[in-house]
Amino acid sequence: MLLTNSLEIKSYPVVFFDSGVGGLSYLARAKEKLPDERFVYIADTKNYPYGDKSSQEIREAVLGVITRVFQKINMKCMVIACNTASVVALDDLRKRFSLPFIGVVPAIKPAAAYSEKKKIAVLATLRTVKDQYLHHLIADFAGGCDVTVVPAGDIRDIVEKRYFTATIEEKEALLKETVKKLKNRDIDAVVLGCTHFLFLEKEFKEILGNTISVIDSREGVINQLIHILQKQDIAAQSLSGSNECYITGNNDSTARYTRFCKEFGLSFSGII
Ligand code: DGL
Repeated sequence: MLLTNSLEIKSYPVVFFDSGVGGLSYLARAKEKLPDERFVYIADTKNYPYGDKSSQEIREAVLGVITRVFQKINMKCMVIACNTASVVALDDLRKRFSLPFIGVVPAIKPAAAYSEKKKIAVLATLRTVKDQYLHHLIADFAGGCDVTVVPAGDIRDIVEKRYFTATIEEKEALLKETVKKLKNRDIDAVVLGCTHFLFLEKEFKEILGNTISVIDSREGVINQLIHILQKQDIAAQSLSGSNECYITGNNDSTARYTRFCKEFGLSFSGII
C-alpha cells in the first residue's frame, strides 16, 4: 500500500495489534493523547497465546493475520502492541509491508536509567524472555545493571481468560508467586514486559510496595506514534468514525471481548 498525504489517508485508522487483550492498555493511552484519531484493535485470539510458541510459529501467525487485515482494512499505521510479536516479527513486518510499524518492547532503557541501585527485573512471556532481542536490549541499554528476567505466562492468562471472573485474591496470589522470585534481588524497578500485565498494574504496585517502581513502555510508544503521524503528515484532522475491535476466532472469546470493548469504548465487530 502506498501512502500519500491525502485527506483520505488522514482519516484512516491507526491499528493496534496483539494476540489478545493486552494491547488495549496501550490503545487506551493513545486514545487519551490523540482524541481525533480513529483506532481499530485486532486481537489474534485464534493463535493466542504467542508467548508459549516457537519464534517460527509466532512469525507465521503474525504475518498471516496481518496480511489478511491489510486486505480488509485501510490503515495508516500499525502499533504491534505485543512485546512477544514485536521481538520476534517486527523486522519481517517492516520488510513485507510499506507501512509505518511501531513496536512495543520491554522498557529496559527507562528502567536502567531510573534504577539507582542498578538492579532491575523484567517480567515477560517465555518467548520474550528467551529471545535474543531482549538480551541485546539488555546488553545495549542496561549493561551496568544486574537484570533478573522472569517468565510469567500465568499472569497473562488470568488477564486474557479470567479478568472479569477471577477474584482479586486469586489475582493477587498469582502476582505474589511471581514477585517471590524477585526476593533478595534488591531491585528498585520492575519492567512489565508483556502488555497483558498492565491490566494488573495497580495490584503489582501494591504488592511491590513503595521502594520498587513499576515501569512500562506506554509513554515512549505513544510519543513515537505521535511523532510518526506528524512527521509523515498523516494525523487525523477530526474523528471520522467509531473505534472498533476484531478478533480472529475462538468463539469463547466473544462474550469477554464484548465486555472488554465496552470498558475501553470500542465497538465489537466480530471475527476478521
Ligand atoms: N501481550 C503479549 C506481549 O506483550 C503476550 C501475549 C501472548 O503470550 O500471547 O508479549
